[in-house]
Amino acid sequence: MENESPIYSGKAKSLYRTANPGEMLMKFRDDITAFDGGKKDTLSGKGSRNAAVSSYFFRLLEKNGIRTHFLRMESENTMIVRALRMIPLEVIVRNIAAGSLVRNYPFKEGTVLKPPVIVIDFKDDTKHDPMLNDDIILALGVLDRASLTRLKQFARRINTVLSRDLKKKGIKLVDFKLEFGFAGEDILVGDEISMDSMRLWDEKTNESLDKDVYRFDKGDVLSTYRSVTGRILPCENDHRNT
Ligand code: C5P
Repeated sequence: MENESPIYSGKAKSLYRTANPGEMLMKFRDDITAFDGGKKDTLSGKGSRNAAVSSYFFRLLEKNGIRTHFLRMESENTMIVRALRMIPLEVIVRNIAAGSLVRNYPFKEGTVLKPPVIVIDFKDDTKHDPMLNDDIILALGVLDRASLTRLKQFARRINTVLSRDLKKKGIKLVDFKLEFGFAGEDILVGDEISMDSMRLWDEKTNESLDKDVYRFDKGDVLSTYRSVTGRILPCENDHRNT
């Protein structure tokens, strides 16, 4: 794999073919970026933390009857995933107002959103992932109405499962981003669910435990990722020092 070029390389992950056309290898790199790539760094050991947390959440979703692309871990920073026909949408679920919601609308940061707010963006970095509405999604032909409804139902169910699990660990799930893809007619969760794609706050202190630490220079990103991985993963203390 190391000698092959990836078929897709994003800001923090690369995707490689495998001998099996139905399976791909997803590598979580140590790169971290923010603000559409305007800020970039490489943090040794970051990729394996995101891979571990993603695989934990994918397994948790599968246990709760929600299908994902996750098949198995190959190494500590690579996973074998099902090949999907990806839907070019970013589905963001928000439980607490933060980030772009606060920047763009008159919400006070920290306001609890009941019911949770679902925002869907068009995945296109060159256009800064513009926000969509149902009519635009249908007019673009990205999804039909039934699939769009299913997507939102999945997002709500996933939010319930993840929020409940994180609450047990003293962590508030503020918001998170999901990507989905088709396997035949079925819609599966793809991409990753990690500290790069979620906003997590400590229940008691509201301290950021996610990529906001990097975005806004709130502290040592790697030690935050290391400690939150230890809190999320069951019975696993993250002893590595890297
Ligand atoms: O920036 P914003 O507040 O809209 O982000 C909402 C959530 O979606 C955050 O948890 C952020 O990390 C995630 N996100 C992402 N990838 C994007 C945009 C947002 O993972 N391209």
